[in-house]
Amino acid sequence: MGLLTPQKSSFAPPTLLYQLIYHPLTTWFAFLHYLILYLRGRPYVPPKNKVPIRVVCLSDTHSKMPPTSIPKGDLLIHAGDLTNNGTLNSIQQSIDWLKTLQKPWPGSADGFRHIVVVAGNHDSYFDERSRSFHDTKNTRRTLDWGKIHYLQHSGVTLPFPDGRELKVHGAPQIPRCGGNEFAFQYTRGQDAWSNTIPDDVDVLITHNPPKWHLDIPENGGMGDEFELQEVWRVKPTLHAFGHVHSGYGKEPVWWDEGQKSWEEFLACAYNKPAGTTASQRLPLTELVDPQIWMLGVKCLVADVRGMLWNRLWGGARQGGYMVNGALTYQTTSKLLNKPKVVDL
Ligand SMILES: *[C@@H]1O[C@H](CO)[C@@H](O)[C@H](O)[C@H]1NC(C)=O
Repeated sequence: MGLLTPQKSSFAPPTLLYQLIYHPLTTWFAFLHYLILYLRGRPYVPPKNKVPIRVVCLSDTHSKMPPTSIPKGDLLIHAGDLTNNGTLNSIQQSIDWLKTLQKPWPGSADGFRHIVVVAGNHDSYFDERSRSFHDTKNTRRTLDWGKIHYLQHSGVTLPFPDGRELKVHGAPQIPRCGGNEFAFQYTRGQDAWSNTIPDDVDVLITHNPPKWHLDIPENGGMGDEFELQEVWRVKPTLHAFGHVHSGYGKEPVWWDEGQKSWEEFLACAYNKPAGTTASQRLPLTELVDPQIWMLGVKCLVADVRGMLWNRLWGGARQGGYMVNGALTYQTTSKLLNKPKVVDL
């Protein structure tokens, strides 16, 4: 892959040099936007006088076991793509590995209190339309989940110490990105999200990223705009997902004017005719685009106001986090990324 050509696969990240040349303003405004968010501090603070609930997020393990140990915590989330081939056997193998994480840690009385799993597009067995012929024939065999919660357009309320509870909801659907062996696909552009998630959910688990967050938008991205709209309506404290390995990371979300403007900025900067990329324009074109400048400045002004509100005037911290917990590193098949940890 050349330094200046766009990435060949929608799942590979563009190089920094490519970004600097074809998205100079995006690169610069992203740096400032995330710097201000960092200075603003934590978007969410666990309730006072209560033990925080530690959530460990992972996804996209693709039938491999992470080479390093999983951090300790109260709740473990797997946001899909447990397997590669999605057969009942391979899914059961991954479930059996997850079950080992419920056993007490050495020298401790506890393991994870709860484990919650959502399916990914590779986990074909879960969707009858994509189930393998072999699995369709053998209907007598089923999965043995033990105490693990599997969520598919469903939710569960989990108890934690100090009388705390988390309301968790899981949804596996993704915009089509492969053949009929992939599970839970819908046609891109179709609204598969509006009013599908209860609005009092604390933790939302999907396989697909919402538009503009922890995704690779250069070739259109996998993130879904209807999903983003639904997430804005529900405003979960934690939204955990995966699918786009190169989008791995954790970011604060404030559900305010700054975030709205940042999403508008990206929509403008990546608004190119379908099937084309920024490199089909002249280099540095962004620099002379008044609309991109205007939206970037609008976002930074809103970000600074938000920061002052929290830092000087003691505004409430009512935001949360988005986490892309893909353990598979970029377009390799190695689990080099570490699980992400969030305290709620
Ligand atoms: C599917 O993957 C599992 C786990 O990696 C493997 O054991 C199994 O042989 C694979 N099955 C097929 C049909 O490829």
